[in-house]
Amino acid sequence: MAPISYRNAFVSIEKEVYEPAEDSFLLADVAIDRISDGMNVLEIGVGSGFVSAVVAANKNVEPIGCDINSDALECAYKNGIQVFRSNLFEGLRKKAYFDVILFNPPYLPTSEDEKLEGWLNYAFDGGVEGRDTIATFFAEVSAYLKPGGSILLFISSLTGKGEVFDIMEREGFSGYVVAETRAFFEKLMVIECTHNR
Ligand SMILES: C[S@@+](CC[C@H](N)C(=O)[O-])C[C@H]1O[C@@H](n2cnc3c(N)ncnc32)[C@H](O)[C@@H]1O
Repeated sequence: MAPISYRNAFVSIEKEVYEPAEDSFLLADVAIDRISDGMNVLEIGVGSGFVSAVVAANKNVEPIGCDINSDALECAYKNGIQVFRSNLFEGLRKKAYFDVILFNPPYLPTSEDEKLEGWLNYAFDGGVEGRDTIATFFAEVSAYLKPGGSILLFISSLTGKGEVFDIMEREGFSGYVVAETRAFFEKLMVIECTHNR
């Protein structure tokens, strides 16, 4: 696959790793706007490392990334990102440490017969309604944010915006859509949210 050059970052992509697409670009653009120099930044589901690499190329920040896909971790590491293997927060000890947590999750509604073979399924499969991983993420994330820290979460209209806001609010977060764009069959959005503690 051809390497991608975007906003001062140069990222190579490997097989079995999510190829950055409109969702990755939108999240990276918002991340550059919202992240300030010196912040502690975590990217869950780092994939190729594209979003974190764009942040690192434009801010004085060294994002840490994790993924469940070991091929993605190898790729992100080669693209200059510090990584660790984890199912969401399972492998993380740094409680109340991050100013910003980024996540472009698997967000597509996926039935049994739509599942892909191999690691790539984790990039897309959000469960039957598209919100399984997002729901687990919101149940766990507050312990890892500094007080006042924020989340930048990508979703699609296919994921169900109202339902995602219900999940967020149930877990004590408030947020709003900070960027939105139209794609072929869907609306793409980034939500920024903070915990109401
Ligand atoms: C849509 S891709 C986004 C990749 C990259 N962040 C980007 O924007 O180009 C979702 C990523 O989340 C990872 N992922 C899915 N479920 C995960 C989980 N439970 N824990 C950690 N990573 C997960 C996938 O392997 C995949 O790399």
